[in-house]
Order: sequence, then structure tokens, then C-alpha cells
Amino acid sequence: MHTCLILGLGTLSQVGYANLERGQERLNTQPSQAPPTPPSRTSQIVALIRSQFDRPFSPMGDPDAQHQLCTGMKPTNATWLKPAILARTRFFDEQVLNAFSKGISQVVICGAGYDDRPLRFRAHGVRFFELDHPETQKDKARRLREIGADMGDLVLIQTDFRRDDPAKLLGASSHRASVPTLFICEGLLAYLDRQTIVLLLGGLRSASATGSILAASLAVHQEGESAGQAVASANARRQTSVMEPWLTVLSPTTYYELFAAAGWKVEPSSVPSEIPGMLLITAHPN
Ligand SMILES: C[S@@+](CC[C@H](N)C(=O)[O-])C[C@H]1O[C@@H](n2cnc3c(N)ncnc32)[C@H](O)[C@@H]1O
Repeated sequence: MHTCLILGLGTLSQVGYANLERGQERLNTQPSQAPPTPPSRTSQIVALIRSQFDRPFSPMGDPDAQHQLCTGMKPTNATWLKPAILARTRFFDEQVLNAFSKGISQVVICGAGYDDRPLRFRAHGVRFFELDHPETQKDKARRLREIGADMGDLVLIQTDFRRDDPAKLLGASSHRASVPTLFICEGLLAYLDRQTIVLLLGGLRSASATGSILAASLAVHQEGESAGQAVASANARRQTSVMEPWLTVLSPTTYYELFAAAGWKVEPSSVPSEIPGMLLITAHPN
């Protein structure tokens, strides 16, 4: 089993990791300068809920992967999230299968958390790259080791999108910017401030060849409503808003403008009417 962990430059001093190379995971025992944040609880909650769904999988894939990755996680009672997570899970599963049908052989999952798709949709010649905060990535790597997952085609990259350019991190890995890629941002952008979203979208664009697809879930408010009020209302409803607050809720138009400014042409897909405030979109390099 080859666990590949790559370190975001900006996180080096914070997490006390160094000298990470392909196929190796080395722990630097120097004390961290800042206390590490714990693994993302929101991503655990999403994974726990997603593990209850009946979903497609590839011939080489593991349909039990999500369930196994969640072993030992504190259970969640956030059942009210189920409809939204079901809708977006279906959407992103379809995006992976659609990308495979187009011959896309690289999948980059930003803010991957405990996403099981690299195991569920394992396929010959397809490489998955996952980017997330260091503590979440370390916990995920441990879980992958414990379930004996085949990691030959999975690269875990530690990052903080507030500081790191994803294009540089991907460029330092085995990702090939000259080959089409499916980029996934599921349940991520709401947790980033607007400036970080712009940097992320721009970085992904510069790592995207013609034929690449960006699939994203967006937290949106009605046109004309206040973005600040929408963020405040969303966080007031969320149990995890202290540790992992939402920072960005925008109108669809504003979001499309951000994507366009970063070089992505958005193609709106149908929004499940029972999920107000969530938009599921695909975009292509323009
Ligand atoms: C709600 S979870 C979604 C996880 C996964 N995409 C899913 O749907 O199961 C949001 C994820 O984004 C990650 N994240 C949030 N802010 C980040 C940042 N600045 N840099 C890297 N990852 C971040 C969190 O660690 C967490 O894993």
C-alpha cells in the first residue's frame, strides 16, 4: 500500500510535518507552532449520512468503502441534512461516472474530507487526488491504512486553501495539468471566504486542460437578499458553526461572475426544488 501525502507549503510550520515525498509519510517530531485543528467534524457528519445511501460503484470499486471509512466516528443525529446530502451525493456520483464515460482519467477532490469515491469508483488508469486540511488528511490516511485500502492511485495532499495554490500542489504531485481532469468541490466553498474561493477557482483553472470539468455545490441566497444575512442565518441553524462556520453564501449571479472571472464557464444544472439554498453546477474552462 502506498500512501502519498504531499504538504501544502503554507502549512509546514503549523503541522510539524516535513520531507513528505511520493509513497512516503514521515512524521517530524518537532512541536507544532500552533495547535492543530481537529479533523473536520462536518466532513465526518456528511460521510456518516452518506454511508447510509445505496449508491453506484465501479466494477473494481468498493461499495462498502464509505461505511468502512466511518468506523468509530461519533454518530450524528443531524438527520435533517439527509435530503441535501442525498441530492448532492447523487449529483457528484453522476459527475464521476460521466467523467469516466468521457475518458477523463484524473479526479481532483477539493475539501475531500472522508469522501469514499477514490475507493468506490476505483478504475484502471484513473488517479484520484484529494486535498484537505492536514489533520483531516492524517486521520483519513490512518483510516485508509486501517481498512487496508489500495492506495496505488490515490494521492492525499495536505493544504489550507487560504494559503496554498492548488495548482502548485497538484504540479508537485503526479497530477498532469495537460490532461483533462474532473475537479470536485462538494460542500466546500461555503467554508471559504470570498477571496479564498477566487484563489481556489483560479488555481484549479490553471491546472485544467481543455475538456476538464469543475463540479461544485454552492450555498446560495435569493437575488437581492443580503449575503451577510444569509451567512448569519445559515450559521444560526448549524450545530457545527463554531468550529467550522460558513463564510460565504452568494446569489447565483454573483457566483457565476466569480467562476467567470476565474476562467470557468458555468452550466447550471437543475436544482432540486426540495433543497432551497443549494445549487449544483458544472463548469468548463472558457
Ligand atoms: C462539509 S466538509 C465536506 C467534505 C466532503 N467534500 C464531503 O462532501 O464529504 C468540508 C471540507 O472542507 C475542508 N476545508 C474547509 N476549509 C478548508 C481550507 N481552508 N483548506 C482545506 N480544506 C478545507 C474541511 O476540512 C472539510 O473536510
